[in-house]
Parts: sequence; C-alpha cells; structure tokens
Amino acid sequence: MCGIVGCIVKEQAGRVLASGLERLEYRGYDSAGIAVVTDDGIRVRRRVGKLAELLDDFDYDAFDGKVGIGHTRWATHGKPSEGNAHPIQDDTGDVVLVHNGIIENYKEIREELEGKGHVFATETDTEVIAHLISEIMQGDDLEGAVRETMRRLKGAYAIVVLHRRLPDRLVGARRDSPLVAGIGEGEYFLASDIPPLLEHTRDVLLLEDGEIVSLTPEGVRVTDLEGNTIERQPKEIEWNLLQAEKGGYPHFMLKEIHEQGVVVNDSLLGRIAEDGTVRLPELDMDADAVAAIDKIVIIGCGTSWHSALIGKFLIEELAEIPVEVDIGSEFRYRRSILGPSTLVLAITQSGETADTLASMRKARAHGARTISICNVIGSTASREADGVVYTQAGPEIGVASTKAFVSQLIVLNLLALHLGSMRGKITREASKEYTDELRAVRGRVETLIERADELDPIVDSYKHVDDFLYLGRGINYPIALEGALKLKEISYIHAEGYPAGELKHGPIALIEEKMPVLAVATPGETYAKISSNIDQVKARGGEVIAVVADDEANPPMGVDHLIRVPRCRETISPIVNVVPLQILSYRIAVARGCDVDQPRNLAKSVTVE
Ligand code: G6P
Repeated sequence: MCGIVGCIVKEQAGRVLASGLERLEYRGYDSAGIAVVTDDGIRVRRRVGKLAELLDDFDYDAFDGKVGIGHTRWATHGKPSEGNAHPIQDDTGDVVLVHNGIIENYKEIREELEGKGHVFATETDTEVIAHLISEIMQGDDLEGAVRETMRRLKGAYAIVVLHRRLPDRLVGARRDSPLVAGIGEGEYFLASDIPPLLEHTRDVLLLEDGEIVSLTPEGVRVTDLEGNTIERQPKEIEWNLLQAEKGGYPHFMLKEIHEQGVVVNDSLLGRIAEDGTVRLPELDMDADAVAAIDKIVIIGCGTSWHSALIGKFLIEELAEIPVEVDIGSEFRYRRSILGPSTLVLAITQSGETADTLASMRKARAHGARTISICNVIGSTASREADGVVYTQAGPEIGVASTKAFVSQLIVLNLLALHLGSMRGKITREASKEYTDELRAVRGRVETLIERADELDPIVDSYKHVDDFLYLGRGINYPIALEGALKLKEISYIHAEGYPAGELKHGPIALIEEKMPVLAVATPGETYAKISSNIDQVKARGGEVIAVVADDEANPPMGVDHLIRVPRCRETISPIVNVVPLQILSYRIAVARGCDVDQPRNLAKSVTVE
C-alpha cells in the first residue's frame, strides 16, 4: 500500500529520502512527506498530490540533518490531505513516525488516549501509534515503548519512528506489512520495499513479523517482542530496479495475484466483531433505513460488473432484497425506475470510470441513495457517493484486475451479511459461522497460489488455441465470465463465458474436436446440472477442464483436466475459484509472449465514454 523510507546517512538525509520516495512512486500514492532531524528539532514537510509538490522547491539546507523518514501515502483512513499525510506526530511533537497498514482498534485507543488528555490532529488510524508511544515511553527507551505499543495494536503495520530526544536513532517495527533494512558503509536504511535501497546497498535484512529494528550510526539491532536480540545475516539482493518494484515478480499482475491472501485479510480487518457481526459503519444506515430498502441496483464495468453479478446472488441469498445489476454504459442511458427507497451500489476499483460515475449521478438525481464500493480513497466515486465502503486491495497496477476483484467479493459478502442481519434474516450464530469461513479464505487462496504449477499441463495443452469457452452456473456463472475476460484481455485468445444452462441454446454449436471448455463445477445447488453440461460437451468431442472441490467424491466423468480447489460454501466459492483462472490466463499469456501488464488497446481506468 503506502511506501516507507528511512535513513541514517553521512550527508543530507533529505536528498536520500527524496530519491527513495521516487523509487516508491510506482506503488501509487495520493500524498507524501519527509521528516529530518535537524539542529533545530525534527522538521516535517508534507504535501498532497504528486512528489513534485513535495520536492520541487524542497529546501534541503533548511532540512540539513543525517537522520530522517519519508512516506508516500495511499489513503485508507482519512481523506488525502496535508493534515493526514505522513510523517505523523503526537501532540507534544516528540514522536514523529510513518506507517503502512491499517490499525484495526484505533478508535478504542483514540478514545482512551483522548480521555487522558491527548489531543488528536488527524483523521488517521496512524496517529494513535504516535500518541501511544509518547504515552508509554519511559526515559529514553524508545525501543521499549515501540515494543509495548505493538502489544496494544491490532491490525497490520510497518512503522518507522523518530524521537526528538534521540536525534541519531530510528526504530522500526512490523506485523503483516513488509519492512526491510539496508546495510551500507556506515549508513543504514529502512524501507517498505527494496527499490529505495538499491542505489545505496544490496545488503538487506528482511524483518519478520513481530520484530523491532533499531538503527544508529553504529549499526543495526533486531529484537523480538520480548527484547531478545536476533542474529540475522544480511541477504544480497541481485534484482535490478524494475524487478525490485515488482517485488521480484516478472509482472505486476503476478505480484498482485500473489498479494490476494493478504488482501482478503485487509478487506476483512476491523469489519468483524468478536461475536461474528459485521461492522460497516461507512454505510451510515440504521435498521429502519435498511428495512426501508425495496430494491438494490448494482452498477459496474468490466471486472467490477462481474463482482456486481456476484453481489446480486449474495444479497438476494443472505438479505432477501431484490437486486438488479447493470453495466454502467447501459444504465446511464436506460429508463430506470429509481427512488428514495432504492439503494444503488457502484462498484469501481479506480473510482474514476466515466460510465460508472455517470450512472451514480443519474441515480442520485432520481433520489436514490448511492454507496460506492471503491479501492481509491479520495477518488471521484468516493467523493460523490452518499457513502463509501473501501475495498483495501492497495494500489493495483496490472491492467487486468485481480486483487481488486477479490477484495470487492469480500466486501460484497460482508455487505450482504450486514444487510441480512439488520433485516433479521441472519442470526448472530449464522453470521459468526459465515465470517469464520471468510477468515479462512486467505489460507485457501494462498494454497491455490502455492499450487500454481499444477496448471502447467493445461497451459501446455491450450496455449496455442484460438477459442475458449468458460461455463459456470449460479454464483459461479460470473466467474466463468471473469475467467474468459482475463484470458482474452491478456492472451488475446477469443474466450466467452456462458451460463452452462444456455449451452444448448447456442454455444454448443461451436463445440467440435479439441475445443477447450473450462467448467466451474464446485459444490452447490447446480452441481448435478453442470456435470451433465460437461457430458454434453464431451459427447461432441470438446475437451473439458473442470474446476472441482479437492475432496469431490464424484468428479464429472471423462474430463481432460481437473483443477482441484479447497471446498467452501457456495456463496464464498467464487473468491477461491477465480484464483486458478487468473493464474491460468497469466501463464498462457506469458507462454504466448504477450505484454501481461499492458495489454494492447486496454486502459487501467477508462475515464472517457
Ligand atoms: C477497465 C480495466 C478493468 C476494470 C474496468 C472497470 O476496463 O481494464 O480491469 O475492471 O476498467 O474499472 P473500475 O476502476 O471502475 O473498477
């Protein structure tokens, strides 16, 4: 998500931090800042927008010092603004820090500290960390205060901290968010990512969860939560800069596929209470307002439209509210029956897709309440909607959407559960069971990513075909659409997704010897039906790749390839089922020599009609 850099160097730290931030730009950000320890205390400069806003007239002489921290922020709590940009300070100005990640229990901590007289200045979750460290710190034991603070924080974070009384020290810590230390010649660095380190050193210490790192001009010390010193040898990094930006992956798309386990986690963070009830205060709707909804309309384009289709199944199943789904470019020009009792959900990764924005505006003009399910804080959709639920996928750079889709599905599951509970359709026990299963999705997604090589025989068999058919039924019909979209977008193989029951009304005419047909046949209401659709394809000489549960006792007969996926309940299964389809498309595209991250004619965000 955000980017962190910190350093103890022999010359001006400001210049090192500035070039470090430039190396982090590829991650996407909406504001940035630098803090340097100078003879007059810690100086901080923060700006909204591109790095040029921060750096063009940066007065390096005024920021003369050898120790400092920098940050690029991708907003998650609090809008992109100078006040919310990092580095963030506590109200004494003693503690100055940068943070990546999400603090789940920040509201409780903030209330507690406000009760003790702390005055907060930002809308961020980060600020509680600065205040907590300040509150806890005894004497000059910054490391101890960070350690104690970590015990209080729930969520994911990497932090790097400066303290006014300790001008030659940097303390970093991490849990579920990356942080690496670079070891130079009498110079030391910290960063969320390898790229900022590469121009200074290739010797890197990779920090583990729950570890604390202390940097001084004398060296680097890593300790655990109990304060025990951890001996670790630096690793030599051989990547070039571009490889480093991609975290060592050959493409952003692959990196983003691999991030999906963490994304599942981040999209759930802070949204499930201990008793299993879903918390979505962003909706700002009480039980009466939810009871008054008589129809939900979900709008999206591309992959976000596929999420919308899945959202319909989820909401109708769990909340029993009628749902219509529309493509943005259709909805905006269609006569629509909308009113104050209609809830319109606009799903958009970027928050900038022109047709989705126009649809939202139309819905509002008709008096409907609009909620945006969006990945980019401060985007147009997030600003114009009546409410916004963020997906927490972090910046998505590959044009073909992967992790944003998974995060949208998590949010839609939560939303459907929430609406269902508020309308009395879901008991607390049922919600607990369901949310426990949602938490388990991370492990299932990661298992599938680890087993990616199992797809290679399929890649080899079909990388040269001209056409592909994807079939699914029910809630997995949109997964057939998404699988086909992924393949055509990046490999240029013609692929179509179809509801399997429609096979006999047209696509069956296409089936001939060797025509590949991928069928999503995981457990659910229509399993027997899709099995018989598979038989129909086989009877006509087609080749079938079936996605089935790994413990499926009766897999469809005579299929050519099986893709085994962990079993889960039908309404959750799309999140798991899409993963091998993404990997399959990716590997086929690579085998065909296609430009995976920038497919021809496509744009990441379509801001024009
Ligand atoms: C483009 C992208 C797709 C994306 C679609 C909708 O077509 O290539 O990956 O699904 O726009 O974008 P949005 O940002 O609104 O989700």
